[in-house]
Amino acid sequence: MNDPCLILNDSEKYLSNTNNRFDLTFMDPPFNQNKEYRSHQDNMEAEHYWEWLKRICERIYERTSPGGAIYFMQREKNAHRVMEALDSSGWTFQNMIVWKKKTSAVPETFRFGKHYQVIVFATKGKKPRVFNKLRIDPPLLVTEKYARPNGMYVTDVWDDIRELTSGYFAGDEPLRFPDGKRVHNQQSPIALLLRIILSSSKVGDMVFDPFAGTATTLVVAYQLQRHSIGIELDPVNVEFSRKRLLNIRPSDLITRYLNEYRYTENLLDLWPKIDPENYTLIKSTAYQAALLEQEGDYKIDEE
Ligand SMILES: C[S@@+](CC[C@H](N)C(=O)[O-])C[C@H]1O[C@@H](n2cnc3c(N)ncnc32)[C@H](O)[C@@H]1O
Repeated sequence: MNDPCLILNDSEKYLSNTNNRFDLTFMDPPFNQNKEYRSHQDNMEAEHYWEWLKRICERIYERTSPGGAIYFMQREKNAHRVMEALDSSGWTFQNMIVWKKKTSAVPETFRFGKHYQVIVFATKGKKPRVFNKLRIDPPLLVTEKYARPNGMYVTDVWDDIRELTSGYFAGDEPLRFPDGKRVHNQQSPIALLLRIILSSSKVGDMVFDPFAGTATTLVVAYQLQRHSIGIELDPVNVEFSRKRLLNIRPSDLITRYLNEYRYTENLLDLWPKIDPENYTLIKSTAYQAALLEQEGDYKIDEE
């Protein structure tokens, strides 16, 4: 069983008490840019904010298996802070991934418009315990004459993953309230977590997300038969995420990306084929019981 485990809690508190081990962490904290969060003040004093994230990186490092990985996402202007937080907590730098946005750049008055976010990939120790070299098959550029016979390796520039923008362009992946408003404006795309989990984990590994939001990490980890733990402070996000995990929607299915990765060697070892029938597993009694045992006074809605 690889049932995902979503916990309503503060990630630092959780990390101080847990004995769990992690093989891979995706860390997408609030960016401290005064965004509206229901359960978090996104305008901390900068030094406090970075001290806090550094402590979280330390705790995760302590709980990570040798060679395990972390992917820490941030605004590009804070890249040096991320590197410092990871370095001072023991992590070994591997890549600064540039996640280039598909929508137009954020306009600026006296500098270049901003068009990407960074994701720093680091490991516990020099050599990753797992690194799967993925191959993708992006459309040819106008400057490229011949079709690639077997795709290309993924590099540290990811320009083929569309962010979930505001408005209708975001499609049906974002979780929404009945009035159409988004539950979470920072929801990560399934395709982003798919790439990270495929690259840095094996079937049966433990994937951790200390700022789970809408549980995108858990939704993808489950489909790839990895165990997962997510921590989220906002009860509304937790409620919507639990529903999301109990009923995986067509827009959350990773199978629609399978073709894109078809040139990856041993793809089917990394991406176990799940018969859609098996999605009923997620509704097993054990899974529901585990959710109810978790901290917080949450009850699952009767379906
Ligand atoms: C940038 S969002 C993450 C979005 C996520 N990647 C997704 O796909 O939905 C950051 C999340 O951290 C949560 N958060 C803020 N402070 C927290 C804390 N101390 N412990 C746990 N979660 C926290 C916020 O409520 C928010 O949902």
